[in-house]
Amino acid sequence: MSKINNFIDQNKDRFLQELIELLKIPSVSADSKFSDNVREAANYIHNKLISAGAENCQIFETKGHPIVYGEKIINDSFPTILVYGHYDVQPADPYELWDSNPFEPVIKNTSIHPDGAIFARGACDDKGQMYMHLKAFETMIKTNELLCNVKFMIEGEEEVGSENLETFIRENKEMLNADVVLVSDTGIISNDTPSICVGLRGLSYVEVEVVGPNRDLHSGLYGGAVANPINILTKMIASLHDENAQINIPGFYDNVEIVSEKERAEMAKAPFDLDAYQQDLDIKSVFGEKGYTTNERNSIRPTLDVNGIWGGYIGEGAKTVLPSKAYAKISMRLVPHQSSKRITQLFQDHFNKIAPEYVKVNVTPHHGGEGVVVPTNFNGFLAASKAMEDSFGKKPIPVRSGGSIPIVPLFEEVLGLKTILLGFGLDSDVIHSPNEHYGLFNFYKGIETIPLFYKYFNELNKR
Ligand code: BES
Ligand code: MN
Ligand code: MN
Repeated sequence: MSKINNFIDQNKDRFLQELIELLKIPSVSADSKFSDNVREAANYIHNKLISAGAENCQIFETKGHPIVYGEKIINDSFPTILVYGHYDVQPADPYELWDSNPFEPVIKNTSIHPDGAIFARGACDDKGQMYMHLKAFETMIKTNELLCNVKFMIEGEEEVGSENLETFIRENKEMLNADVVLVSDTGIISNDTPSICVGLRGLSYVEVEVVGPNRDLHSGLYGGAVANPINILTKMIASLHDENAQINIPGFYDNVEIVSEKERAEMAKAPFDLDAYQQDLDIKSVFGEKGYTTNERNSIRPTLDVNGIWGGYIGEGAKTVLPSKAYAKISMRLVPHQSSKRITQLFQDHFNKIAPEYVKVNVTPHHGGEGVVVPTNFNGFLAASKAMEDSFGKKPIPVRSGGSIPIVPLFEEVLGLKTILLGFGLDSDVIHSPNEHYGLFNFYKGIETIPLFYKYFNELNKR
């Protein structure tokens, strides 16, 4: 066994215990009730970076939640890796659907994780994955095997759009100077089919309000004579897709990247079991844009989805009311070359245009971000591929994901750096949902793979 694997083996219980302590901190970035806890998580990471052997460790204040930084520059002739991750988590709601408290981690076996998985909000996204980097770093330091310079930048606002991190990277270009960014905040196909994420979708997110009469009305006295904003809103939303499940907003597809037949054929080689997919979700059939497979629909094609819709009376029993207002939150997942700003504008213009004269509409944009494609022919990808091949015993498959990490395209735009998305989560780990978990196999496999990435990245970047 290598020095590195030996050290991991001897310290695996402590590594897990430290992750459990981190998962107990409810660092929910979206909810100001938790802002002290978000800070507590930042302090925890800061302390663990120091004890692992990082230098120049600092907590940078922002207009929102803090950014934790630390580095170890060991040799000017070594390449430098900028490690990015996030210590904030999504809200745990709805609490009643969790089998155990989201902030009291428990370890249980599942059919997919026979060696155990840790159940807690943030277990996979992203505390468990981010923490692998701290422990891999500690391992490389303690075994004298650190072969790259490293800079850690761990933020607390990924789940709310990373707006302050954007300002931070614009203001600290020199400090963040590196050769590549390394992120574990994505997934693999399965524990025996390793893959590397080579694409993320962008995001445009809006909230809409449809206003009818100036007050809630009796649906008997006024019903039929005054437009009902919920009826109108649902009709407007329904009109946003055509019969082929394409999006009906003029200009929406203008810049959409056309993926070549060759690349589509390559993508289709990734193992995928449609029956198992449908069974897992309890659906008779999948649905989506005509002419594309399920895996294309959720990665290389843009979408428009209602994330929430409300208005009127939703309490117990029946109340006869014609509501004054109706609301919806709508997300659009974007693909490379679509600009989130432009798409938001197109949506806004279109939604205003299709509003009938008997209602008023307001569209409020939220955070957004651009899509990313990672090339498979540069040192970073080659090092990641070799590292995974060593640790899994199988060559990883490049796969584009449908999720978004808005800061990643800005690493390229602002810092001129490509990002390696070396994630170890599974789709079945149900990130953002009740009973989120992360496999112990995946946690330790990540800690084992990261030093191999450093080793190969060093070899490929010898000066
Ligand atoms: N880590 C996820 C994104 C992700 C997960 C990408 C799995 C690929 C595979 C990240 O924390 C996330 O949830 N991003 C948000 C966007 C953000 C602006 C709230 C998303 O994709 O909804
Ligand atoms: Mn994440
Ligand atoms: Mn997330």
